[in-house]
Amino acid sequence: MKLGICSDHAGFQYKGKLIAALRLEGYEMVDFGTDSEVSMDYTDVAHPLAKAVENGSVDAGIALCGTGNGMAITLNKHRGIRAGLAWSSEIARLVKAHNNANVLVMPARFVPYRTALSMVRVWLGTQFEGGRHQRRIDKMTECL
Ligand code: RB5
Repeated sequence: MKLGICSDHAGFQYKGKLIAALRLEGYEMVDFGTDSEVSMDYTDVAHPLAKAVENGSVDAGIALCGTGNGMAITLNKHRGIRAGLAWSSEIARLVKAHNNANVLVMPARFVPYRTALSMVRVWLGTQFEGGRHQRRIDKMTECL
C-alpha cells in the first residue's frame, strides 16, 4: 500500500517518525513535505496530497499540523477527499469504519507520538462498514 503524508512545521517531527515506522511495516511512503521546522503554510502541502489521493497516485493520506484543523479544512475542499480529524485510537477506528476517511488528520501538538502511531495503525487496519454509512457519504456532496 502506498501512503502519502504531509505536515506543516508543527507536525514535522511526527511525520519523519511515522515515515520511518510505516516503512518498516512495509508501506510505501510518499513524503509531500514540509522538510523542516521552519514556519510554513499547511495549505502548500495539503493541496498536493489531496490531489495525489484524488488521482490515485497514492492509496490514502496522512496529514499533521498543530491542531489538525488547518489540514482537515483544506483537504476537505477537494471533492474526492474525506479527511477525518482524530485524536484517539477509537476515533481513528470510527473515522474509517463510519466515514471511510481517505486521509487521516492528526493534531501533532495535542497527542503524544505513540498515540499518533497507534491511530495510524488502527485506521489502516479498520474496514469501512458501508451500508447506512455509505448512504451518508453519498449525501455529503449531493448539493455541491
Ligand atoms: C501553526 O502554528 C498552526 O497554526 C498549524 O499547525 C495548525 O494548527 C493550523 O490549523
